[in-house]
Amino acid sequence: MCGIVGYIGNKSATDVLISGLKRLEYRGYDSAGIVVVSGGKLHTVKQSGKVRDLEQMVYSRWDEKFQAGATLGISHTRWATHGSPTPENAHPHYDQTGRLAMVHNGIIENYSSLRTQLQAKGHVFKSQTDSEVLIHLIGELYQGNLVEAVCAALKHVEGTYGIAVVSAERPDEFVVARKGSPLVIGLGEGETIVASDVSAIISHTRQVIYLDDDDVAVVRASGVDVRNINNVPVSRAVAKVDWDVGAAEKGGYEHFMLKEIHEQPESLGNTLRGRLDEQMGTALLSGLSLTPRELSAIRRVVIVACGTSYHAGMVGKYYFEELADIPTEVDQAAEYRYRNPIIRPDDMVVAISQSGETADTLAAVREAKQKGALVVGICNVVGSTIAREAGRGVYLHAGPEIGVASTKAFTCQLTVLLMMALKLGRCRRLSRQNGMELCEKIQEIPKLVKAVLARNDEIVKVAEQYHQARDFFFLGRGAMFPVALEGALKLKEISYIHAEGYHAAELKHGPIALLDKQTPVLAMVNDIAGRDKMISNVQECRARHAPVIGIVTEGDADVEANMDHVIHVPKCSHLTAPIPTVVALQLFAYHVARLRQCSIDQPRNLAKSVTVE
Ligand code: G6P
Repeated sequence: MCGIVGYIGNKSATDVLISGLKRLEYRGYDSAGIVVVSGGKLHTVKQSGKVRDLEQMVYSRWDEKFQAGATLGISHTRWATHGSPTPENAHPHYDQTGRLAMVHNGIIENYSSLRTQLQAKGHVFKSQTDSEVLIHLIGELYQGNLVEAVCAALKHVEGTYGIAVVSAERPDEFVVARKGSPLVIGLGEGETIVASDVSAIISHTRQVIYLDDDDVAVVRASGVDVRNINNVPVSRAVAKVDWDVGAAEKGGYEHFMLKEIHEQPESLGNTLRGRLDEQMGTALLSGLSLTPRELSAIRRVVIVACGTSYHAGMVGKYYFEELADIPTEVDQAAEYRYRNPIIRPDDMVVAISQSGETADTLAAVREAKQKGALVVGICNVVGSTIAREAGRGVYLHAGPEIGVASTKAFTCQLTVLLMMALKLGRCRRLSRQNGMELCEKIQEIPKLVKAVLARNDEIVKVAEQYHQARDFFFLGRGAMFPVALEGALKLKEISYIHAEGYHAAELKHGPIALLDKQTPVLAMVNDIAGRDKMISNVQECRARHAPVIGIVTEGDADVEANMDHVIHVPKCSHLTAPIPTVVALQLFAYHVARLRQCSIDQPRNLAKSVTVE
């Protein structure tokens, strides 16, 4: 989704901004722009397409001396919401005088009425965006003090924003503000860099301030001055980022997605580190900040999430119900707040979000909190909005996930959910002995994933055979049903093949009509409960001439005989089996997409972090 980078300091702002935008490319975008302040003027370049198109234009248009001379600027990658991805609609946008410029993430929901009011005062708009209205409003209210004008304008705005605003008159400072869209300020030596995502900052500094909603900040080379929307100073803590730059780079792999698939044994190890108490047969998870008494008082779990995180939540339901005996519901976060959800005092709402910024999940968190629920976050990005607003929860510690298609975050989410279910279970029905056995199984997870990664060649062979298929079905039962949904989602996200995930038993209720010899079926026939019924479902598919690729447990010869092709996963508990199984599906989707020469890390139309509803 949209990205912002702003810079003021002792380096060429152009260079810093362009390299910062490149680090944000993974978020998904369709156009980009930059403005620098120099010689009392604003200099802008905007372009549709990739950052490298913008880069080419910038370096061919601006001479070297000028580039080195400009030490303040702001920039943006856009993912179109209002108005198509043209250079006119790309950010920055200008005010009526052309002396102020702004980049904006988010949506100004009342832009239409604001625009009508401004047009009545003679304002002329050059784009179809909601964003341009905001900078015109700031310009309308500007009387020589930029931060005052920004605060005044934001009071009229409904919607979400992360903004950076520059003035031609002020080569020494710029103003940023946020509500609902993340903004992080990096404090360097004689330089300050602002970005919507910490990955654009870490090559400059690790000291950062995460702005809260309704914060406004004046940014200077020497540091920042944070205020609230009434322009009253507020203090914000400085945090230290512990990612390294290498973690945000490809490390020799062809794609971030492949790197992240292969990183899973390590990221799962990080998720588990120090969190299992094998002696007591439980999980520690101190971030939950709940006593055993509070945990045992929980009567219902409601999981809210979107996309891949939603699929993780669906697996979590099996964990909570089986291990902790707690009725569990899983809600698509986008649906949750619009249907007057019933919250009881003994409910726990679990929000799952890799980025911690997904607008619908955040809105669900706010709804649940407002209704008095106990809210817990499962997030990867430390300091993200959902993590902070939930106030308690469990971080994945999966490291930055750059590929748009989520992989390592999903397996770490399942691992966290399994540990949470263990902890809840131990406060209720699970014996210490059972808990100890489960701890052992959980400890095995990184090894199980390693075993699947070692089967890469087997998966490549199947991908080679079927990468030209037009449609796919993914079938599973029990906790393998959401795994089938996730496998289908991975395939459609990056290979653009139409893929449907179905409960194997539901196939007969309609979709079986679509099966023929051109429609491969991926069936999770692991050696766990439901295996025999899966074999029957596979027969139903084969009887319709659909080729079946079975995900089968190593050594399960009876099943192999019933499949057209097999991908092996190691023998393990039914509770951990979703994790190695989904890794096989991630690799399958990856290789199909690679063979089809798709843009794997930045699939068309998709964004890593969806900060609009
Ligand atoms: C986007 C991403 C998905 C992700 C979903 C939820 O659609 O492309 O990969 O699963 O958002 O994101 P979250 O950060 O909340 O887990």
